[in-house]
Amino acid sequence: MSERGCVITGWGTALPPTVVTNADLETLLDTSDEWIVERSGVRTRRAATGPFVRPAPALHPPSGVGTTATLAIEAGRQALDVARTAADEISVVVLCTTTPDQLMPATSSAVAGALGIGGGAVDVNAACAGFTYGLITAAGMLSTGARKVLLIGAETMTRTLNWNDRTNAFLFGDGAGAVVLEAVNGVGSLLAWDAGVDGSLVDLLYVDHGDGMVMRGREVFRRAVRATVDSINSALAQAKVGAEEISLFVPHQANQRIMEAIAERVGIPNERIATVVESTGNTSSASIPLALADSIARGRLGAGDLVVFAGFGAGMTWASAVWRWGGPV
Ligand code: UT7
Repeated sequence: MSERGCVITGWGTALPPTVVTNADLETLLDTSDEWIVERSGVRTRRAATGPFVRPAPALHPPSGVGTTATLAIEAGRQALDVARTAADEISVVVLCTTTPDQLMPATSSAVAGALGIGGGAVDVNAACAGFTYGLITAAGMLSTGARKVLLIGAETMTRTLNWNDRTNAFLFGDGAGAVVLEAVNGVGSLLAWDAGVDGSLVDLLYVDHGDGMVMRGREVFRRAVRATVDSINSALAQAKVGAEEISLFVPHQANQRIMEAIAERVGIPNERIATVVESTGNTSSASIPLALADSIARGRLGAGDLVVFAGFGAGMTWASAVWRWGGPV
């Protein structure tokens, strides 16, 4: 696959102010800090809604505090600032979310409106694989005429939780991450990608209207590792890149153990994994841009570095992308 010439020039993040610790959860659930850390690596997560947020935010109207849109707007505004990009330069806002504020309209419309963007706006929902699908979508748009794309992953996962369900309430958190992508000649690029779905597995992880999340965690874990490893290997083969050449692996931050299991099977050393799950929990579509922004802030990326992004989640869906970093560092 030929280089498509797109570069990430801006990034931003947003987290709600309320920090929920494992000790907080011990007051609600039959669980322990030790168990949660050992099984998932999560120590704290941020919550925009739920029993630990005071005062309780209004869920309606959806323009209030603690919504997917408000987090997306904050992260998006930072990314535009870093990229020194004006709203009218953005061809499309692509908002990856599995927790839109309303069924209709798409949450990206409110985000575009708040940021003064009139180019175009669309939501992408592929659950926790959403941001990787968004990256592939944005790169495709840039290769066919878009000038700049604002790509955001934003979630209020706490709205989907049953806080009394110890099988999954400890795992998730809220947040947003955003990047600005620009079409360029050469420098950075999406080198190759792979995406897949197994629709026979929709019952492994779902949220029905008005109900709390249901997740068969152990089964999701097993299948996620297998599918994501195959997907990454396929993308690496297409890009003619060896695992040892990967400078940074930015996986969906589902669980520290899953990330390490995938990296080990692909042949990427643990120290090359970008990880923020310890302080954010699993933020679904927001997790990859949050981890990417953290790695940029730590100076972990240089021009020309090879980066692998990989997401997986409900559906089950998965996707991976091999990227040559070309942005300012
Ligand atoms: O974001 C994309 C999609 N989601 C994921 O990728 C998540 C995938 N799954 C996971 O991350 C893991 O399955 C979890 C972290 C959710 C759970 O870890 P696990 O190692 O798979 O635990 P388990 O569900 O197999 O439960 C092990 C034991 C069980 O007891 P028994 O049957 O061994 O006696 C559970 O009842 O731990 C018990 N358990 C708990 N104990 C303390 C379950 N939840 C808890 C809890 N605290 N919160």
